Amino acid sequence: VTRSGDAGAGNRWPEVWARRRLDSSKGSLVAQLLAADGFDTGYGDIAESHWVDFLSDWATQLNITPDSSVFEVGCGSGAFLYEMHRRGCDVAGLDQSAALVDIARATMPDGHFEAADLPELPRADVVTSFSVFGYFPSLAYAEAVVRRMVAKAKTGVAIFDLPDSARRDDALAERIAPAGGPDNYAARYEGLAHLYYSREWIEQVLRSARLEGVRTADQDLPAYRNGQYRFNAWGFRAVADADRR
Ligand SMILES: C[S@@+](CC[C@H](N)C(=O)[O-])C[C@H]1O[C@@H](n2cnc3c(N)ncnc32)[C@H](O)[C@@H]1O
Repeated sequence: VTRSGDAGAGNRWPEVWARRRLDSSKGSLVAQLLAADGFDTGYGDIAESHWVDFLSDWATQLNITPDSSVFEVGCGSGAFLYEMHRRGCDVAGLDQSAALVDIARATMPDGHFEAADLPELPRADVVTSFSVFGYFPSLAYAEAVVRRMVAKAKTGVAIFDLPDSARRDDALAERIAPAGGPDNYAARYEGLAHLYYSREWIEQVLRSARLEGVRTADQDLPAYRNGQYRFNAWGFRAVADADRR
């Protein structure tokens, strides 16, 4: 269906996320959370104003109101959830980095956060995941996560920032040249591969989990370099389905 990345073997991403801390020199709290979550690395830079606008648009798109509950898989320090919390939503999340979960807890003391990979998820109106699926070890793992997300969502699911298998070669080319060629790149980024997804694959998984109105679209965060090679996927729980639960 799609070519899987190499994120499984010798995966060094957990070490990266375990080392992340809040850095007060990064500016506002939102800017600090974005930096702690890795959106401060050149390719990953996201400006606070773009982030806030992006989440405002998506809150509308996903029918998130101040009464909504929002759960995020791979919430990190909570850059995504913090904006929902500011709107009045109940927020909760899990992340495999205990260091980042500690920051989320300190930032949103009334939220519920768990340091874990793939436990049972609690129910929430909307279940999301921003820029997390690219770090998963395999498509089989990703599919298991999607199924759990859909099972727990009362109204909708949104998976953001999926590395696009159709643009994999371009994404790699942009990084290989500045790294000094393929050998240097391979040495520097060993164990730091991304997992790529085809739109058809994720749409099919979301539909087979019984979501309706399933769609994918290009990432739409201005000036976010990684975003050129990423897309978002989302869908809604059928009303009859949600009522039965
Ligand atoms: C780029 S950060 C994004 C954090 C947050 N979603 C945000 O938008 O600010 C990626 C996060 O995914 C988490 N992660 C990666 N693989 C995971 C897994 N299998 N289970 C839980 N969390 C995972 C990392 O620990 C890290 O916090």
